[in-house]
Amino acid sequence: MIPAHVPENRIVNFDIFNPPGVEDDYFAAWKTLLQGPGLVWTTANGGHWIAARGDVVRNLWNDSARLSNQCLAVTPGLGEVMQFIPLQQDGAEHKAFRMAVMKGLASRYVVALEPRVVEIAGELIANLRPRGSCDFVAEFAEVLPLNIFLSLIDVPLEDRPRLRQLGVQLTRPDGSMTVEGLKQAADDYLWPFIQKRMAEPGDDLFSHILSEPVMGRGWTEDEARRMCRNLLFGGLDTVAAMFGMVALHLALNPQDQRLLREQPDLIPAAADELMRRYPTVAVSRNAVTDIEVDGVTICKGDLVYLPSVLHNLDPASFDAPEEVRFDRDLTPIRHTTMGVGAHRCVGAGLARMEVIVFLREWLSQMPEFRLDLTQPVRMKGGNVGACITLPLVW
Ligand code: HEM
Repeated sequence: MIPAHVPENRIVNFDIFNPPGVEDDYFAAWKTLLQGPGLVWTTANGGHWIAARGDVVRNLWNDSARLSNQCLAVTPGLGEVMQFIPLQQDGAEHKAFRMAVMKGLASRYVVALEPRVVEIAGELIANLRPRGSCDFVAEFAEVLPLNIFLSLIDVPLEDRPRLRQLGVQLTRPDGSMTVEGLKQAADDYLWPFIQKRMAEPGDDLFSHILSEPVMGRGWTEDEARRMCRNLLFGGLDTVAAMFGMVALHLALNPQDQRLLREQPDLIPAAADELMRRYPTVAVSRNAVTDIEVDGVTICKGDLVYLPSVLHNLDPASFDAPEEVRFDRDLTPIRHTTMGVGAHRCVGAGLARMEVIVFLREWLSQMPEFRLDLTQPVRMKGGNVGACITLPLVW
């Protein structure tokens, strides 16, 4: 049922999990909403608002006083199952836990991790190179972030295949596991590591975070589980999706491959611009009070969906937003690929390093590559949009 406060001219039927045409082009599918008003109400998935213009997306994302993170997603019940720390917290509680997580992901740890990321990326590329082709998503994009995560939490090599299965379910759920089952599997897997790090802190991500006091006390076991779960669910498919989009861009634009091979010092700026150009994360909020915006009222209790794609690809946010310009000045307005405001991604520095290392290693070790036109590129929608297959040849 459509609530009475939703004006008729704001009603659309747009399924965020499956926008029309998403399998061919995630960005084009979303961009159709930029033609209409800044805020629309979709009747799909139980009914919720979608911010559909750059300034509306950004302003609402920044409004953590009136929009809560508790709901996690428009999917009913998902927030109650996951209980992520710090993602689903608000206000002072969020600030305290976020601070501890940020300390664990401080740039000195990210810098220290880089040689390991180079090594893991190098091994994967060395295996792929002689083959002359691959499905980039399954054979690289999804494998590298998982291996990096396992290095971050210092998981022994022999334990890795078990989490690989879980990683596949996280990035490409095949429907064989419910959300509860997935959460339970993640917890069961992570728990021995969490317990060990709480008892005997080492030099790994979980230890760094869990040895930071929160609100003047130590972490409880429940809080530790919720935080580790957040890192696992937040740091895998997001990075895999970004790798996929970056590789797709380069496969379609051999001139950019050449430029970055010839001038590798452009790679950090290229990583920033590619991350702006290919945003695939969207977040959900629940209104804790009535909010007037774009001539309508979001009522207390309403769900609001904020897709970063509609901020970054709005021509009012960035000049010619679909053009990839490695010399674009990204300082006047920050893009929202990593979010904005109180919940901006705590893994942003790590993610940026991963993208830079991927570009450096792939471009320096692989010959020019392109799409394998005998097979389709397929994409998916959802809270993290992504390529699900990306056949490459070289
Ligand atoms: C390209 C890769 C990534 C993208 C696009 C991305 C995107 C985002 C976005 C948009 C948010 C804001 C959520 C909100 O406002 O509700 C966020 C938050 C978060 N991200 Fe990332 N992320 C990436 C990588 C990572 C990595 C590698 C980690 C950690 C290992 C991570 C951990 C988190 C956590 C814990 C939060 C919650 C922060 C808070 O609530 O204060 N992310 N991310």
